[in-house]
Amino acid sequence: MHPNTAKEKIMSIAVRYYSRSGNTKKVAEYIAEAAGVNAVSVDSKDAALTEKADVLFIGGALYAYGIDDNLKKYLETLSADKVGKAVVFSTSWLSKHALDVIRKFLSDKGISVESQTLYFKSKAVDSCKDETLKFAKKFI
Ligand SMILES: Cc1cc2nc3c(=O)[nH]c(=O)nc-3n(C[C@H](O)[C@H](O)[C@H](O)COP(=O)(O)O)c2cc1C
Repeated sequence: MHPNTAKEKIMSIAVRYYSRSGNTKKVAEYIAEAAGVNAVSVDSKDAALTEKADVLFIGGALYAYGIDDNLKKYLETLSADKVGKAVVFSTSWLSKHALDVIRKFLSDKGISVESQTLYFKSKAVDSCKDETLKFAKKFI
C-alpha cells in the first residue's frame, strides 16, 4: 500500500534536487520512491511547485564549499505559501555544509525547515537505499 493511502488526508509530497554527477540524484530517487512521486531536477521545466507541497524534500551537493547556482536559483523561487515544511538532504565527499547553506536559503524565505536532515558521503551512496527509505517515511 502506498504510505499516503493510510492517512486520512493525502499529503502532497514533492522531491527536488540538483546533482552534477548523480549521487544526490540517487538519494532523491529513493526518497521519491518512498513517497510515490517523481524526483525532479531543479533545472527541469517541471520543477516549479504548481500546488502547495506539504513536505518538500530538497537536496543538493557541496561544490567548493558552496551549492550549485542552479539550486540557488531554484531556492530563490520558493515561498512559504508553497511549502509546508522542507526536509533537506545532501551528499559530498566529507562536509555537511550544503545542508546549512540550503537551510539558510529556506529559513530566509520564512519556510519551515525540519531539523532532521539526510546526508551521505559520496562513497556511501551506493548502499544508502534502506536508510533513505526509512528516513523519508518519517515525513510522509
Ligand atoms: C568541483 C567539485 C568540488 C567539490 N567540493 C567539495 C567540497 O568542498 N567538500 C566536499 O565535502 N565535497 C566536495 N565535492 C564532492 C561532491 O560534493 C560529491 O561528489 C557529491 O556527492 C556530488 O554530488 P552529485 O553527484 O549529486 O553532483 C566536490 C566535487 C566537485 C566535482
